[in-house]
Amino acid sequence: MTSDERPKAVRIGLLGRGTVGAAFAELLEERAGAIEAVCGRRPELSGVLTRNEGDFGEIVDGSDVVVELIGGTDPARGYVIDALRAGRPVVTANKQLLAQHGEELFAVAREAGVQLRFEAAVAGVIPIVRVIQEGFAATEISKVFGIVNGTTNFILSEMAATGAAYEDVLVRAKELGYAEADPSDDVNGADAAAKMAILARLAFHTPITLDEVAYEGIEAIQPDDLAYAKELGLSLKLLGVAERRDAGISVRVFPCFLYGGHPLAPVGGPFNAVMVEAPAITEVTMSGPGAGGVQTASAVLGDLLSILSGEAPVHEARERLDVVTDVSSSFYLYLEVADRPGVLAAIARVLGDNGISVKSVVQRGIGDDARLVMVVHECLESRFAAALDEIAELEDLRSAPRSIRVIEEEFV
Ligand SMILES: NC(=O)c1ccc[n+]([C@@H]2O[C@H](COP(=O)([O-])OP(=O)(O)OC[C@H]3O[C@@H](n4cnc5c(N)ncnc54)[C@H](OP(=O)(O)O)[C@@H]3O)[C@@H](O)[C@H]2O)c1
Repeated sequence: MTSDERPKAVRIGLLGRGTVGAAFAELLEERAGAIEAVCGRRPELSGVLTRNEGDFGEIVDGSDVVVELIGGTDPARGYVIDALRAGRPVVTANKQLLAQHGEELFAVAREAGVQLRFEAAVAGVIPIVRVIQEGFAATEISKVFGIVNGTTNFILSEMAATGAAYEDVLVRAKELGYAEADPSDDVNGADAAAKMAILARLAFHTPITLDEVAYEGIEAIQPDDLAYAKELGLSLKLLGVAERRDAGISVRVFPCFLYGGHPLAPVGGPFNAVMVEAPAITEVTMSGPGAGGVQTASAVLGDLLSILSGEAPVHEARERLDVVTDVSSSFYLYLEVADRPGVLAAIARVLGDNGISVKSVVQRGIGDDARLVMVVHECLESRFAAALDEIAELEDLRSAPRSIRVIEEEFV
């Protein structure tokens, strides 16, 4: 075959060459032969943009596909829109961009008739976007939930295993490279919220953005909570939950206790795990590394291969579903109480008056060290909040009550 007859290379324009971008460039070179074997054309890097290298316009002009690995919304949003409008398919790993501007970007991609792929933006190496869009394309998904932030999962696993305080484990997570220098968005739940907005959009075909996802982080978790929970057979995870409810959908991120038999309970360290539930499939669970340059780059490369060889998924929103905020949950409740007769009865009365029943109670310590730890059955969160306000007013309480959600479902 002469050089004229050989199929032209696929030119890849790379925006950003940091942790993921550099790993992607390396992997692209390493796997170019395998990609050529699948799609008949060899991919090659045609240009790179960083803060001090490359020109965006020239990179787009000289590429067939654009890979955005800058992160954040500005200037990434403008670059992705311009590349799509110029007819270039785009692969991105940018969860913030998708969670905040997904609808706009999908519309631009549709108008331009090119693909926008983003597998690496959610749940690390787990191919959850592909599974929802392709594997379960004909399935009415009822719930997508899981551990979508590796940093917080590492911290909670370490706290449970060692009894160490949150602050100490965070320092260790930074040393091991599991937490960034500024871990705020990981530990306060914002990173997981962005991923859940993307997953909810995919699973329920409804426009939903980051500002509609309620989230809580793990900064207030105490070693005590984990120790008592262990006695009750519970382990703690930061969960993202997107589910259908009677009146619409609910999308939230919160720390949550799980019973030992739950498929997510044994997922420890910096791993992610996602479960999909639907009447037709019962449930599917997938787990894998939550981040990392090479791991993320391999998901980006998978998207590139899909673009070069396959059908485009459809991103049209079907209907606008309402976001429900007051939903039912079961709760763990930690109370430091006075060691006096009738305390437990007073607390049980407040719970009972609010229609809340107790599932289990552990009583520990005497005198100034008396504590009550209980798990209550599922109730509307607004009812629980009202009960908590009343309990906080009781004379016999020595400090503010602490509560954490619990998933009551016990898998066998
Ligand atoms: N790291 C992970 O494990 C991971 C996991 C999943 C998803 N992601 C996503 O992957 C994307 C990239 O993350 P990363 O960790 O690789 O980030 P990073 O290490 O901070 O690299 C960012 C790159 O973008 C370039 N850049 C930043 N601002 C720019 C601008 N205004 N114009 C042009 N270039 C600019 C930087 O240029 P300079 O080199 O000049 O600074 C750098 O090359 C993000 O969307 C992130 O959320 C990362």
